[in-house]
Amino acid sequence: MILALETSCDDTCAAVVSDAGEVRSSIVSSQGVHDRFGGVVPEIASRHHLELVNAVVDDALREAGCDLEDVSLVAVTQGPGLVGALLVGVATAKGLAASRRLPLAPVDHLQGHVAANFLAPDAIEPPFLCLIASGGHTLLVRVTGKRGYEVLGRTLDDAAGEAFDKGARLLGLGYPGGPALSRLALAGDPAAFAFPTAARVAGLDFSFAGLKTALLYTVRDLGQERTRRCAADLAASYEHAIVEALIIRIERALAAEPGARLAICGGVAANRRLRERAQRLGVDVAVPAPELCTDNAAMIASAARWVDAVPYPDYLALDAYATGRRSRAA
Ligand code: KG4
Ligand code: ZN
Repeated sequence: MILALETSCDDTCAAVVSDAGEVRSSIVSSQGVHDRFGGVVPEIASRHHLELVNAVVDDALREAGCDLEDVSLVAVTQGPGLVGALLVGVATAKGLAASRRLPLAPVDHLQGHVAANFLAPDAIEPPFLCLIASGGHTLLVRVTGKRGYEVLGRTLDDAAGEAFDKGARLLGLGYPGGPALSRLALAGDPAAFAFPTAARVAGLDFSFAGLKTALLYTVRDLGQERTRRCAADLAASYEHAIVEALIIRIERALAAEPGARLAICGGVAANRRLRERAQRLGVDVAVPAPELCTDNAAMIASAARWVDAVPYPDYLALDAYATGRRSRAA
């Protein structure tokens, strides 16, 4: 059994996953305290992780029907993310692993999102093209093995999830904005407003800054009262633009690689409209269950199966990283 922890942002997550990739438990405790600030406050996130992490680990073990004795590997998100938040997970994982002299697998968060596709019972095998779309990252990658990927395109400014969150804030919705905006969009007309998709950005890179600005100007021009009346149409049109912006790049990548299969992952892959739109691309599309798209520790355990685990006590010097992808000894 693999016990994994994920604390890179505001969700405190622990999971137990078997070597075969069966999810025995996956606990996600969302902090729900950042709403009033319109975004995650790093210091508050770290403090809440500290308060929640032991109970979340206990719950994950209990729900899986096992205890630490049954665990042969501890895995943890090492980065990228909020360093203070990551460190709570890293320190907890070190303590748990060291108490039984277990090895520790440091996992890259984005590789974790990709590895959600390797979990049973719907595991897929490389090679495939993969959209990784979360609150902090938006990448189009080629996955040829279980340990990594090759980046084909990335966002030049905001991430897709960030575009959802910022749009939601402009429409007076809470945080995280993606689910809230998507719910509001259900009652709206996606063709009511024409928002930009940055289709003129050639190649496979993404850009969402212009879209956010377009919404800002539209809301300003409409004024408070009409914005309130058109809120559902604004949400639906804005969501439509984000989804199409993602789909345009996916179509370009697929055109360059006929016969390629596609996977989508990351928090934004929980979006209903994106999931439906991707299914209509005419290629094989894999999308993990929504709860495995948004942050969770099961995906970290999944990725850990192909990470070189660090033996005790070497990992006691392990550090977290905020950006990029580093080797384990920082
Ligand atoms: O992967 P994730 O859970 O955390 C990060 O690694 O950032 O992604 C979170 C992002 C947030 O921006 C959130 O608004 C977005 O994913 N998100 C959604 C939906 N669920 C989460 N965006 C659109 N529709 C959703 N249903
Ligand atoms: Zn994530």
